[in-house]
This record gives sequence, C-alpha cells and structure tokens, in this order.
Amino acid sequence: MKRVYLDYAATTPTHPGVIAAMLHSFQDVWGNPSSVHACGQEARTAVEEAREKLAHLVGAQPDEIYFTSGGTEADNWALKGAVAARHEPGSHIITTPIEHHAVLETCEFLKEQGCSITFVPVDRYGMVDPDDVRKAITPKTVIISIMHANNEVGTIQPIAEIGKIARTAGVYFHTDAVQTVGHIPVDVNQMNLDILSISAHKLYGPKGIGALYIRRGTKIPPFVHGGGQERHSRAGTENVPGIVGLGKAAELAQEEMDGEARRLTMLRDRLIKSILDKIEHTCLNGHPTRRLPNNVNVSFRYVEGEAICLNLDLAGVCVATGSACSSTSMEASHVLTAMGLPPELARASLRFSFGKWSTEDDVDFVLQSLPKAVSRLRAISPLVKK
Ligand SMILES: Cc1ncc(COP(=O)(O)O)c(C=O)c1O
Repeated sequence: MKRVYLDYAATTPTHPGVIAAMLHSFQDVWGNPSSVHACGQEARTAVEEAREKLAHLVGAQPDEIYFTSGGTEADNWALKGAVAARHEPGSHIITTPIEHHAVLETCEFLKEQGCSITFVPVDRYGMVDPDDVRKAITPKTVIISIMHANNEVGTIQPIAEIGKIARTAGVYFHTDAVQTVGHIPVDVNQMNLDILSISAHKLYGPKGIGALYIRRGTKIPPFVHGGGQERHSRAGTENVPGIVGLGKAAELAQEEMDGEARRLTMLRDRLIKSILDKIEHTCLNGHPTRRLPNNVNVSFRYVEGEAICLNLDLAGVCVATGSACSSTSMEASHVLTAMGLPPELARASLRFSFGKWSTEDDVDFVLQSLPKAVSRLRAISPLVKK
C-alpha cells in the first residue's frame, strides 16, 4: 500500500549520505577518540570534523559545541546549568507555555527545587511579545528560554530581539532550535544567543544525538561527570557514528537548506489553501507567514484530530495531532490551549509536516482522503447540530 509520510517534525528519515558516513564510521573509524594511538586519533579527527561542520551551520566556533544525547538532554543541561551556575536560592527562569516538554518538565523540576518560573504569554498565533519578556526580568532571573520555532504550529519567535533584551539585562538567553537548525537560517551571533539546543534526527541525522551550543565565557557547569570528554563538560565515550552522522547532516543541510525551504513553502501553502477552500469549518493554527516552511496545522471543527489521524493512517497518510490520547481522557494540546483555542478546537487539530522526500503528489494524495475522512467523522459527530 502507498504510504505518505507527513510527520517530519516528529522525526526525519535518515539521509542516505548520513547513513554512508555512519557506516564508514562503524566499519572503519571505531577507535576510542580518547586513545592516543592511530585508531583513536582517527576517531578523534572524525569527531572534531563533525563539530566544525555543526558549528559552521549555526555560526559558532567549534569549541562552543558540546555533543549530547539529543535535544532533550541539551534543554535539560541549559536550564539546570544556568540555575546551578548562579548557585543562589530562588533563581528565576523566564520561558513560555508553548515550549517542548523537555523545557517545561525541566522547569517543573527546578520549581520543585525552589526556582520560580514566569511563563510569558503568547498571542493567538503563538507569538511572544519581546516587551513581555523585558518586563518579566528580575534581579533573580538566571535564564530566558524561548524556543526558536514551535514544533506543533511552526510559529517562529522574534529571537534576535529577545536576545538583545537578555544581553542588555545581563541574563543568559537559551533557545530550543530543534525544529529550525538545518531548515531555516540560525546564527548564534545574529540572534544574540548564549545557549542553543540541537537534535540530529530532525535534520535527517540519526536519533539519540544532539548538541548544546554554549557561547565562550558563559558559565554553565559540566552536566555529566566522569572521564574528561567534551572538554570536561559531558563525560562518556563519544557516540562517534552518531556524531559523524550529525556532522554530515549539518553539512548537507548547509548545501540544501535554501532551495528546500522555498520548495516546502510552496507545498505548505498549497495544502493550507486547499484545506481551507475545500473543507468547511476549518482554521489554520499558528502564524500565517512567520511559520516553519514545512508546517501545516489546522483545526477541523466538530471532529477529534486523533480520529482523523487514525483514518488517514488507514488511508496510508502519516500525520500527527498535538493531543495525547490516554485511555480515560483526550488531553488538548498545551500549545493550542496557550494560544487561546477552546478545548474543542484544540482537540480538533492535525499537524502535517513536510520534508525532503515530500512531493506535490503527496499533497494530492492527502487531498483525496482528508475531505472524505472529515465528512465521514462529522456525519457521526455528536457535536454537529443536525
Ligand atoms: C522543539 C523540540 N525540542 C526538543 C525535542 C526533543 O529532542 P530529542 O528527541 O532529540 O530529545 C523535540 C523533539 O520532538 C522538539 O521538537
């Protein structure tokens, strides 16, 4: 059966060039980078080359890149590190209610440890007002953590402007750039960033590897203690094939990003327009223009997103909802709720996210099955007034 994958925001297929680089690493560059002999030094070279490629992609220096096990670890390190660095009770963190759980749950943990958290609101497009960030800063603020683009609705935040505010106030500024690195331009200097989280599997690299950028001079203590790897900051024998894969993914992204962003924007806009034209009682979630080139998030009034998702899956289309279905309840997306959507619209949402292997045919395929699925579900929905 034909299958169309439109869930690139959840994870991307691994690029064949990345697989080739990783296979070479597994087969031929298997030494321990800490060993002084030739086998070890080959692996060390591979790790440092990958670091250079990733640094280049985000405008950083190689010694500002620390490899981690992924975006979640990078977010944990950024927040826990900033709090630990200040070493004062009652540290204050500024973030938003639409962050990924890797940030929200870390904040929850830090709150239990005595930190206070301010969640600056977002507007109906999921956008933060930099002025709200400025007003939230107190002498106790140790870090501002605001994601670059949201994983559910794709809204891109005014990061450079917020970074300027943080710098003026002398507060560390972190962004979770897991959804943007390799997809749209990210430059740590232009964006006035101190700390930035990256995950490989969102840019056609392997899962279980990512990185934290920490600007030189930013005092973030080591996160994993043990051997002296990652400049004594994140111990453990390096995941060399994973790091090589991330480096290769960064190199390929640098080459392909501009063309891909233009191509995906066209697919995105065509799908948005077709859905809004063809299916009544639908609305686009997220910012109409300041959104990721590959993100389409729509609410279909009177139906559960989860139900459409399952119907589309049977038709061979893989998409996502923001809602988490449990046996007893259907929890609405925290992102859409924070944007002010009522629960019934927040639960009626579906996210389509495009990527490298998405085509016009995929959009046509979705448009064949989606209207039918929605009208079938509406026909049996108790929410539709009959
Ligand atoms: C915005 C954002 N942050 C963090 C993560 C977590 O990254 P990882 O899966 O590498 O731990 C994700 C992945 O879904 C994400 O979308």
